[in-house]
Amino acid sequence: MRRNRSADWVRRLTSESCLSTNDLIWPMFVQEGYSEHTPVPSMPGVERLSIDLAVEATGQAKALGIPAVAIFPVTPPELKTPDGKEATNSDNLVCRTVRAIKERHDDIGVICDVALDPYTTHGQDGIVRNGKIVNDETVEVLCQQAFIQATAGCDIIAPSDMMDGRIGAIRAALDAENLQDVGLLAYSAKYASAFYGPFRDAVGSAQNLGTADKRTYQMNPANTDEAMREVELDIAEGADMVMVKPGMPYLDIVRRVKETFGVPTFAYQVSGEYAMLRGAADQGWLDWDKVILESLVSFKRAGADGVLTYAALEIAKLLRA
Ligand code: PBG
Repeated sequence: MRRNRSADWVRRLTSESCLSTNDLIWPMFVQEGYSEHTPVPSMPGVERLSIDLAVEATGQAKALGIPAVAIFPVTPPELKTPDGKEATNSDNLVCRTVRAIKERHDDIGVICDVALDPYTTHGQDGIVRNGKIVNDETVEVLCQQAFIQATAGCDIIAPSDMMDGRIGAIRAALDAENLQDVGLLAYSAKYASAFYGPFRDAVGSAQNLGTADKRTYQMNPANTDEAMREVELDIAEGADMVMVKPGMPYLDIVRRVKETFGVPTFAYQVSGEYAMLRGAADQGWLDWDKVILESLVSFKRAGADGVLTYAALEIAKLLRA
Protein backbone atom coordinates (compact mmCIF):
# COMPACT_ATOMS: atom_id res chain seq x y z
CA MET A 1 0.00 0.00 0.00
CA ARG A 2 2.84 2.41 0.70
CA ARG A 3 4.14 2.53 -2.91
CA ASN A 4 1.31 4.87 -3.88
CA ARG A 5 2.11 7.10 -0.92
CA SER A 6 5.87 7.21 -1.43
CA ALA A 7 6.18 10.64 -3.08
CA ASP A 8 4.16 13.76 -3.58
CA TRP A 9 3.68 13.14 -7.32
CA VAL A 10 2.22 9.68 -6.82
CA ARG A 11 0.03 10.84 -3.95
CA ARG A 12 -1.36 13.54 -6.23
CA LEU A 13 -1.78 11.04 -9.04
CA THR A 14 -3.79 8.63 -6.89
CA SER A 15 -5.86 11.26 -5.06
CA GLU A 16 -9.57 10.42 -5.25
CA SER A 17 -10.95 13.76 -4.11
CA CYS A 18 -9.82 17.20 -5.09
CA LEU A 19 -10.67 20.48 -3.40
CA SER A 20 -10.71 23.60 -5.54
CA THR A 21 -11.82 27.20 -5.17
CA ASN A 22 -14.83 26.26 -7.31
CA ASP A 23 -16.18 24.32 -4.32
CA LEU A 24 -16.52 27.33 -2.04
CA ILE A 25 -19.46 29.48 -1.01
CA TRP A 26 -18.63 32.31 1.38
CA PRO A 27 -21.34 33.20 3.93
CA MET A 28 -21.02 36.79 5.10
CA PHE A 29 -22.73 38.93 7.72
CA VAL A 30 -23.87 42.42 6.77
CA GLN A 31 -24.75 45.26 9.12
CA GLU A 32 -25.95 48.84 8.79
CA GLY A 33 -23.51 51.76 8.63
CA TYR A 34 -20.72 52.94 6.40
CA SER A 35 -17.18 51.64 6.50
CA GLU A 36 -18.05 49.72 9.64
CA HIS A 37 -16.91 46.27 10.63
CA THR A 38 -17.66 44.54 13.92
CA PRO A 39 -15.91 41.35 14.99
CA VAL A 40 -17.99 38.34 16.06
CA PRO A 41 -16.45 37.27 19.40
CA SER A 42 -17.50 33.62 19.10
CA MET A 43 -16.11 33.44 15.54
CA PRO A 44 -12.59 34.90 15.68
CA GLY A 45 -11.57 36.26 12.28
CA VAL A 46 -15.18 36.79 11.13
CA GLU A 47 -16.61 40.31 10.96
CA ARG A 48 -19.99 41.81 10.24
CA LEU A 49 -19.53 44.26 7.36
CA SER A 50 -21.43 47.35 6.34
CA ILE A 51 -22.71 47.28 2.75
CA ASP A 52 -19.77 49.17 1.23
CA LEU A 53 -17.29 46.78 2.86
CA ALA A 54 -19.39 43.77 1.87
CA VAL A 55 -19.21 44.93 -1.74
CA GLU A 56 -15.45 45.29 -1.44
CA ALA A 57 -15.11 41.86 0.20
CA THR A 58 -17.21 40.31 -2.56
CA GLY A 59 -14.70 41.76 -5.01
CA GLN A 60 -11.92 39.94 -3.15
CA ALA A 61 -13.88 36.71 -3.21
CA LYS A 62 -14.42 37.08 -6.94
CA ALA A 63 -10.75 37.83 -7.56
CA LEU A 64 -9.86 34.64 -5.70
CA GLY A 65 -12.22 32.64 -7.93
CA ILE A 66 -14.92 31.93 -5.32
CA PRO A 67 -18.15 31.29 -7.27
CA ALA A 68 -20.70 32.64 -4.79
CA VAL A 69 -21.37 34.50 -1.56
CA ALA A 70 -24.32 34.02 0.83
CA ILE A 71 -25.68 37.07 2.63
CA PHE A 72 -26.94 37.14 6.24
CA PRO A 73 -28.27 40.37 7.74
CA VAL A 74 -27.79 41.75 11.24
CA THR A 75 -31.18 43.37 11.68
CA PRO A 76 -31.27 46.40 14.03
CA PRO A 77 -33.31 45.34 17.11
CA GLU A 78 -35.84 48.16 16.61
CA LEU A 79 -36.87 46.62 13.28
CA LYS A 80 -37.66 43.22 14.77
CA THR A 81 -41.34 42.35 15.27
CA PRO A 82 -43.30 39.22 16.23
CA ASP A 83 -44.30 38.72 12.58
CA GLY A 84 -40.85 39.59 11.19
CA LYS A 85 -42.34 41.91 8.59
CA GLU A 86 -38.99 43.56 7.87
CA ALA A 87 -38.24 40.33 5.95
CA THR A 88 -40.61 41.51 3.22
CA ASN A 89 -39.42 45.12 3.05
CA SER A 90 -37.89 45.50 -0.41
CA ASP A 91 -35.52 48.13 0.96
CA ASN A 92 -34.24 46.04 3.88
CA LEU A 93 -30.55 45.44 4.56
CA VAL A 94 -30.36 42.25 2.50
CA CYS A 95 -31.99 43.79 -0.57
CA ARG A 96 -29.80 46.89 -0.42
CA THR A 97 -26.73 44.67 -0.08
CA VAL A 98 -27.70 42.51 -3.05
CA ARG A 99 -28.35 45.55 -5.23
CA ALA A 100 -25.01 47.11 -4.22
CA ILE A 101 -23.09 43.90 -4.90
CA LYS A 102 -24.80 43.30 -8.24
CA GLU A 103 -24.12 46.87 -9.33
CA ARG A 104 -20.38 46.38 -8.89
CA HIS A 105 -19.97 42.64 -9.51
CA ASP A 106 -22.44 40.93 -11.79
CA ASP A 107 -20.34 37.81 -12.32
CA ILE A 108 -20.37 36.31 -8.85
CA GLY A 109 -23.34 34.34 -7.53
CA VAL A 110 -25.36 35.91 -4.74
CA ILE A 111 -27.32 33.60 -2.45
CA CYS A 112 -29.94 34.82 0.04
CA ASP A 113 -31.37 32.93 2.99
CA VAL A 114 -35.13 32.69 3.35
CA ALA A 115 -36.36 32.38 6.95
CA LEU A 116 -37.76 34.87 9.43
CA ASP A 117 -35.34 34.48 12.33
CA PRO A 118 -33.19 37.56 11.59
CA TYR A 119 -36.36 39.65 11.78
CA THR A 120 -38.50 38.22 14.59
CA THR A 121 -38.53 39.33 18.24
CA HIS A 122 -38.81 35.65 19.30
CA GLY A 123 -35.96 34.50 17.05
CA GLN A 124 -37.99 31.70 15.46
CA ASP A 125 -37.87 31.09 11.68
CA GLY A 126 -41.63 31.31 11.35
CA ILE A 127 -44.77 32.98 12.64
CA VAL A 128 -45.84 31.95 16.14
CA ARG A 129 -49.52 31.47 17.10
CA ASN A 130 -50.43 30.16 20.55
CA GLY A 131 -46.87 29.02 21.10
CA LYS A 132 -46.71 27.09 17.82
CA ILE A 133 -44.80 27.89 14.65
CA VAL A 134 -47.56 27.89 12.05
CA ASN A 135 -46.56 26.32 8.76
CA ASP A 136 -48.73 27.55 5.90
CA GLU A 137 -49.04 31.14 7.09
CA THR A 138 -45.25 31.26 7.39
CA VAL A 139 -44.82 29.84 3.88
CA GLU A 140 -46.88 32.70 2.46
CA VAL A 141 -44.53 35.24 4.05
CA LEU A 142 -41.48 33.27 2.90
CA CYS A 143 -42.77 33.51 -0.68
CA GLN A 144 -42.89 37.31 -0.37
CA GLN A 145 -39.43 37.34 1.19
CA ALA A 146 -38.07 35.23 -1.68
CA PHE A 147 -39.79 37.50 -4.20
CA ILE A 148 -38.26 40.75 -2.91
CA GLN A 149 -34.81 39.19 -2.65
CA ALA A 150 -35.02 37.79 -6.17
CA THR A 151 -36.24 41.14 -7.45
CA ALA A 152 -33.25 42.83 -5.78
CA GLY A 153 -31.03 40.63 -7.97
CA CYS A 154 -30.31 37.58 -5.85
CA ASP A 155 -29.35 34.59 -8.05
CA ILE A 156 -30.20 31.76 -5.69
CA ILE A 157 -32.82 31.68 -2.97
CA ALA A 158 -31.88 29.39 -0.10
CA PRO A 159 -34.79 28.58 2.22
CA SER A 160 -33.35 27.63 5.62
CA ASP A 161 -36.64 27.74 7.53
CA MET A 162 -37.63 24.03 7.34
CA MET A 163 -41.36 24.70 6.87
CA ASP A 164 -43.17 21.99 4.90
CA GLY A 165 -44.00 22.75 1.28
CA ARG A 166 -42.00 25.95 1.05
CA ILE A 167 -39.86 24.90 -1.91
CA GLY A 168 -42.86 24.25 -4.14
CA ALA A 169 -44.63 27.39 -2.98
CA ILE A 170 -41.57 29.61 -3.50
CA ARG A 171 -40.89 28.08 -6.94
CA ALA A 172 -44.48 28.82 -7.99
CA ALA A 173 -44.36 32.34 -6.55
CA LEU A 174 -41.13 33.16 -8.40
CA ASP A 175 -42.35 31.65 -11.67
CA ALA A 176 -45.58 33.64 -11.46
CA GLU A 177 -43.51 36.83 -11.28
CA ASN A 178 -41.29 36.00 -14.25
CA LEU A 179 -38.40 35.03 -12.01
CA GLN A 180 -37.90 31.59 -13.56
CA ASP A 181 -34.14 32.06 -13.77
CA VAL A 182 -33.69 32.42 -10.02
CA GLY A 183 -32.46 29.13 -8.53
CA LEU A 184 -33.44 27.33 -5.34
CA LEU A 185 -30.89 25.87 -2.97
CA ALA A 186 -32.94 24.02 -0.38
CA TYR A 187 -31.65 23.60 3.14
CA SER A 188 -33.24 20.16 2.94
CA ALA A 189 -31.62 18.22 5.75
CA LYS A 190 -31.22 20.92 8.34
CA TYR A 191 -30.86 19.61 11.85
CA ALA A 192 -31.85 21.22 15.16
CA SER A 193 -28.22 21.74 16.09
CA ALA A 194 -26.35 23.42 18.91
CA PHE A 195 -23.58 24.11 16.41
CA TYR A 196 -25.51 27.19 15.20
CA GLY A 197 -24.78 29.09 18.43
CA PRO A 198 -22.09 31.48 17.13
CA PHE A 199 -24.23 32.31 14.05
CA ARG A 200 -27.04 33.40 16.33
CA ASP A 201 -24.54 35.62 18.18
CA ALA A 202 -23.38 37.05 14.85
CA VAL A 203 -26.82 38.00 13.54
CA GLY A 204 -28.05 38.94 17.01
CA SER A 205 -30.90 36.42 17.18
CA ALA A 206 -29.50 34.56 20.21
CA GLN A 207 -31.06 36.99 22.74
CA ASN A 208 -34.36 36.83 20.86
CA LEU A 209 -34.48 33.05 20.91
CA GLY A 210 -33.36 32.79 24.55
CA THR A 211 -33.72 29.25 25.85
CA ALA A 212 -36.21 28.23 23.17
CA ASP A 213 -35.21 25.82 20.41
CA LYS A 214 -36.26 24.95 16.84
CA ARG A 215 -36.97 21.25 17.30
CA THR A 216 -40.53 21.38 15.99
CA TYR A 217 -39.25 22.16 12.51
CA GLN A 218 -35.53 21.42 12.30
CA MET A 219 -34.59 17.75 12.17
CA ASN A 220 -33.73 15.36 14.98
CA PRO A 221 -29.94 14.74 14.91
CA ALA A 222 -30.64 11.04 15.42
CA ASN A 223 -32.32 10.61 12.03
CA THR A 224 -31.11 9.74 8.56
CA ASP A 225 -34.13 8.16 6.75
CA GLU A 226 -36.00 11.37 7.47
CA ALA A 227 -33.28 13.35 5.70
CA MET A 228 -33.89 11.24 2.59
CA ARG A 229 -37.59 12.11 2.69
CA GLU A 230 -36.83 15.81 3.11
CA VAL A 231 -34.46 15.78 0.13
CA GLU A 232 -36.87 13.75 -2.00
CA LEU A 233 -39.70 16.21 -1.31
CA ASP A 234 -37.54 19.25 -2.03
CA ILE A 235 -36.36 17.83 -5.35
CA ALA A 236 -39.95 16.98 -6.29
CA GLU A 237 -41.01 20.52 -5.37
CA GLY A 238 -38.36 22.05 -7.63
CA ALA A 239 -35.11 22.45 -5.70
CA ASP A 240 -32.13 22.92 -8.04
CA MET A 241 -29.64 22.05 -5.32
CA VAL A 242 -29.91 20.60 -1.85
CA MET A 243 -27.98 21.12 1.35
CA VAL A 244 -27.05 19.20 4.47
CA LYS A 245 -26.42 21.21 7.61
CA PRO A 246 -24.38 21.14 9.86
CA GLY A 247 -21.48 19.68 7.91
CA MET A 248 -18.73 17.68 9.54
CA PRO A 249 -20.86 15.90 12.17
CA TYR A 250 -23.30 14.95 9.36
CA LEU A 251 -21.03 13.69 6.57
CA ASP A 252 -22.89 10.37 6.61
CA ILE A 253 -25.98 12.29 5.49
CA VAL A 254 -24.03 14.06 2.74
CA ARG A 255 -22.80 10.70 1.46
CA ARG A 256 -26.26 9.12 1.51
CA VAL A 257 -27.97 12.10 -0.16
CA LYS A 258 -25.39 12.26 -2.93
CA GLU A 259 -25.50 8.51 -3.56
CA THR A 260 -29.28 8.29 -3.47
CA PHE A 261 -30.26 11.32 -5.52
CA GLY A 262 -27.21 12.38 -7.54
CA VAL A 263 -28.19 16.04 -7.44
CA PRO A 264 -25.93 19.01 -6.66
CA THR A 265 -25.37 18.54 -2.94
CA PHE A 266 -23.91 21.18 -0.67
CA ALA A 267 -22.88 21.07 2.96
CA TYR A 268 -22.66 23.92 5.43
CA GLN A 269 -19.60 24.04 7.66
CA VAL A 270 -21.57 25.97 10.24
CA SER A 271 -20.51 28.63 12.72
CA GLY A 272 -19.87 26.19 15.58
CA GLU A 273 -17.63 24.04 13.40
CA TYR A 274 -15.67 27.12 12.37
CA ALA A 275 -15.45 28.25 16.01
CA MET A 276 -14.14 24.85 17.18
CA LEU A 277 -11.34 24.73 14.64
CA ARG A 278 -10.47 28.40 14.94
CA GLY A 279 -10.61 28.39 18.73
CA ALA A 280 -8.30 25.38 18.97
CA ALA A 281 -5.93 26.87 16.41
CA ASP A 282 -5.85 30.19 18.27
CA GLN A 283 -4.81 28.27 21.39
CA GLY A 284 -2.00 26.68 19.42
CA TRP A 285 -3.62 23.23 19.73
CA LEU A 286 -4.26 22.71 16.02
CA ASP A 287 -2.55 23.88 12.85
CA TRP A 288 -5.24 26.08 11.27
CA ASP A 289 -4.09 25.87 7.65
CA LYS A 290 -3.85 22.09 7.77
CA VAL A 291 -7.08 21.36 9.66
CA ILE A 292 -9.21 23.70 7.60
CA LEU A 293 -7.99 22.14 4.34
CA GLU A 294 -8.40 18.62 5.74
CA SER A 295 -11.94 19.41 6.87
CA LEU A 296 -12.84 20.67 3.39
CA VAL A 297 -11.33 17.64 1.64
CA SER A 298 -13.44 15.48 3.97
CA PHE A 299 -16.59 17.18 2.67
CA LYS A 300 -15.49 16.42 -0.90
CA ARG A 301 -14.69 12.81 0.00
CA ALA A 302 -18.20 12.44 1.45
CA GLY A 303 -19.63 13.55 -1.89
CA ALA A 304 -20.34 17.26 -1.40
CA ASP A 305 -20.25 19.33 -4.57
CA GLY A 306 -19.47 22.43 -2.56
CA VAL A 307 -19.21 23.78 0.96
CA LEU A 308 -20.45 26.93 2.61
CA THR A 309 -17.61 27.96 4.89
CA TYR A 310 -16.69 31.10 6.80
CA ALA A 311 -13.07 30.30 5.94
CA ALA A 312 -13.68 30.49 2.17
CA LEU A 313 -11.35 33.44 1.56
CA GLU A 314 -8.51 31.91 3.55
CA ILE A 315 -8.99 28.53 1.90
CA ALA A 316 -8.95 30.11 -1.55
CA LYS A 317 -5.67 31.82 -0.67
CA LEU A 318 -4.18 28.57 0.65
CA LEU A 319 -5.22 26.74 -2.51
CA ARG A 320 -3.56 29.38 -4.64
CA ALA A 321 -0.29 29.39 -2.69
C1 PBG B 1 -31.44 30.81 9.79
C2 PBG B 1 -30.11 30.18 9.66
C3 PBG B 1 -29.30 29.63 10.68
C4 PBG B 1 -28.10 29.30 10.07
C5 PBG B 1 -28.21 29.60 8.72
N1 PBG B 1 -29.46 30.14 8.49
C6 PBG B 1 -29.52 29.50 12.14
C7 PBG B 1 -30.64 28.73 12.66
O1 PBG B 1 -31.34 28.00 11.95
O2 PBG B 1 -30.89 28.88 13.85
C8 PBG B 1 -26.91 28.72 10.79
C9 PBG B 1 -25.59 28.90 10.13
C10 PBG B 1 -24.42 28.69 10.99
O3 PBG B 1 -24.50 28.26 12.17
O4 PBG B 1 -23.32 28.97 10.50
N2 PBG B 1 -32.54 30.00 9.71
